[in-house]
Amino acid sequence: MERDVIIACDFPSKEKLAEFLEPFKGMDPYLKIGMEIFDKEGPSLVKELKEMGFHIFLDLKLHDIPNTVKSALAKLGELGVDIINIHAEGGIEMMKAAREGLNMSEAGKKTKLIAVTILTSLNDDILHNELLIDPKYSLRDVVRHYAENVKAAGLDGVVCSALEAPMMKELGLISVCPGIRLLGDDVNDQKRVATPSYAKELGASYIVVGRSITKADDPVAAYKKCQEEFC
Ligand code: C5P
Repeated sequence: MERDVIIACDFPSKEKLAEFLEPFKGMDPYLKIGMEIFDKEGPSLVKELKEMGFHIFLDLKLHDIPNTVKSALAKLGELGVDIINIHAEGGIEMMKAAREGLNMSEAGKKTKLIAVTILTSLNDDILHNELLIDPKYSLRDVVRHYAENVKAAGLDGVVCSALEAPMMKELGLISVCPGIRLLGDDVNDQKRVATPSYAKELGASYIVVGRSITKADDPVAAYKKCQEEFC
């Protein structure tokens, strides 16, 4: 099974990203490009990084009506990224439309499409008291149900907490897991966290690591530690 560490490149500009990547020369880490930097730099940054040979997970978490998501993915698919995502909360019809959109370009056909189940910054308390999900359904129940929808829509996998990775394996879905912290690091706004070695034990396909690497005193050492533990 493929297993890799994906660095969440949450930087305000491509200059900051280039500065960060400088000491990683020759290592070619898998990169996650999210809303912060994409909104500033646009698709040209993704094209540049792909031309430089990086694997890219484009994390824009699209969530809209099926037709809009399909059109957006028809365009984004042309970038030829390795993984792209949407929200499972958009429903099965939206997820199918997303795949159709990607399939409209040769490059997009090769892109893995995954869906966010429940954000790793949410927990049972928020789900039941803020979002009014019936308390008879636990967060894990909701994650499982959304993952079953992802499967029914024919997608490749999900974004979920590493704690839910065994469930995804059972369903035959790849799991891309944020909410990863090296032992002793601050959890910040994440609620459902795991270390890279625990994520490996749980069978996660990919881990997405942001601040444990990007805010480390020695980001390369932190990245290597994640790789040692997980790969
Ligand atoms: O800094 P940290 O390791 O918490 O970063 C996690 C990254 O993964 C962020 O870029 C965040 O947007 C992303 N993410 C997440 N939870 C999800 C999906 C993506 O934390 N469900």
